[in-house]
Order: sequence, then structure tokens, then C-alpha cells
Amino acid sequence: MSLVVKDLRARVQINSKEYKTVLDKVNFTAKPNEIHAIMGPNGSGKSSFANTLAHHPNYEISSGKITLDGEDITKSSPDEIARLGLFLSFQHPPEIEGVGVSNFLRVAKGSINGKKPNIRQWVKDFSSFQKNLKIDKEFAGRSLNVGFSGGEKKKNEILQLSLLNPKYAILDEIDSGLDVDALKIVARAVNKIKKDMGLIIITHYARILEHIKPDFVHIFANGKIVKSGKSNLAKQLEIEGYDKYL
Ligand SMILES: Nc1ncnc2c1ncn2[C@@H]1O[C@H](COP(=O)(O)OP(=O)(O)OP(=O)(O)O)[C@@H](O)[C@H]1O
Ligand SMILES: [Mg+2]
Repeated sequence: MSLVVKDLRARVQINSKEYKTVLDKVNFTAKPNEIHAIMGPNGSGKSSFANTLAHHPNYEISSGKITLDGEDITKSSPDEIARLGLFLSFQHPPEIEGVGVSNFLRVAKGSINGKKPNIRQWVKDFSSFQKNLKIDKEFAGRSLNVGFSGGEKKKNEILQLSLLNPKYAILDEIDSGLDVDALKIVARAVNKIKKDMGLIIITHYARILEHIKPDFVHIFANGKIVKSGKSNLAKQLEIEGYDKYL
């Protein structure tokens, strides 16, 4: 059981003729129950890695292979990948007018499981996670992310994560924009559900990693993983910066 990325190369189209390579021979393995942190300077390819794994249509895999628990998902569609148990929380969650939070999540859960969850159970689960995350009740009926503050959007991503309960989750800068208390609330919520889940946390700050302890830390630079280590690597980066890896 693992999420395995082998020699992955990906590119994005930047105009009618040109492409930019965003991932350059990335090798990575995460097992359920493992927590991986991905750090690296702005523009180093962290979000591209997350988006490519979730098969965002802007990211084209040029070579390499991705397998999820033995199944080759290199060419799978985003919904197939979601059904197989991979979840991505976006660095910039999209706003969708007219789509209510609870309805949206119930439909998402239904399409992953093949059956819409029973409404009573759903309302119960929804409110329990909502309470854990200290999200106001009125959010259930609000349009997805519309008018949400930065921190509210991030909490909503963790609400999704909690309800969808995937096998592997990539959290792209889930800590950015959270105040100190919200960071603790989000970390506590993640810690509660992380059992048997492979977690990949993309972050710029060691702080969240004090609450959600990673087993491994990887540094991205220029579309590559240039260094992997244990959790102390995050602390070291905070002191030394990225210069020596660039
Ligand atoms: N869809 C896209 N179109 C054009 N360029 C892109 C696209 N996606 C990524 N890039 C470029 O690829 C590089 C890597 O971007 P990416 O978003 O992966 O960086 P990042 O490591 O997540 O940075 P940050 O820490 O600022 O979030 C950047 O130079 C970015 O401009
Ligand atoms: Mg990013």
C-alpha cells in the first residue's frame, strides 16, 4: 500500500507555442500512516506537484508514472483518482456561487462512495466536524468559499478532508492565512482523522509541523526534490534558508 511517484516530469502551457517544465524527474513515496512535509521556495514546484498528482487539467505529465496502492493512475481522470482515495486541498480554493457547502460535500461523498450518504447521518457528521473546526453553523448553507475569509476557506478544506476521509491527502499551504488559534484547531482536526491516512503537507513554516509531526521532510527546488530528511530538517531550514539547495 503506497502512493508512488516515479521519475515524474510535468509541464504547463504558458502560451500558444511554449511550455514550462514544472516537475523534473520527481521520485516520491508515501505510505498510509506516514506524514510527509514538502517545503521549498516560492515557485519551486510544490503546488505543481500537488496539482499534477490530482491531475489538474493544466498540468501535463510528459513522462514518469504514478501508482496508488498498486494501481497505475498516471492517465486516470481527476474523479477516478478521487474515487481511489486521493484528496487535494487547494492553496487557493475556488469560489462557486450557488453551490451550498453541505450539498456540495454530500454530492462529492456520494460520487466517491457510489451512494449519497443518508441525510440524517450526514447532518450529524457534518455538524460534528463543523463544531470541531469551530466553523459557524450558517456556513453549511453558504455558497462554496464565496466571501469566505482566507482562514475560513482553509478550515472548509479541512472540513472536506474530514468528511471525505481519503487514503492519501495533499494539503497545499493549509496553514497560510490561519491565526494562531485557528492553526491549532486545524492541526487538532487533522490529527484526529489522520489515522491510516498518508498525509502530504506543503508548507513554508515549521510551526504547523510542531502540531502535526512529519516523519519525513522534502525540499523542492526548481521542480525537483533536492533533499529529503527527518523532521529536524524543517527546523534547520527555518534557520538556514534555502540558499544551499539552490
Ligand atoms: N498553470 C500554470 N501556468 C503557468 N505557469 C505555471 C503554472 N503552474 C505553475 N507555473 C509556474 O511553475 C512554477 C512553479 O509553480 P508552483 O505553483 O508549483 O510553485 P510553488 O512551489 O507552489 O510556490 P509557492 O510557494 O509560491 O506556492 C512557477 O514558476 C509558476 O509560475
Ligand atoms: Mg504553491
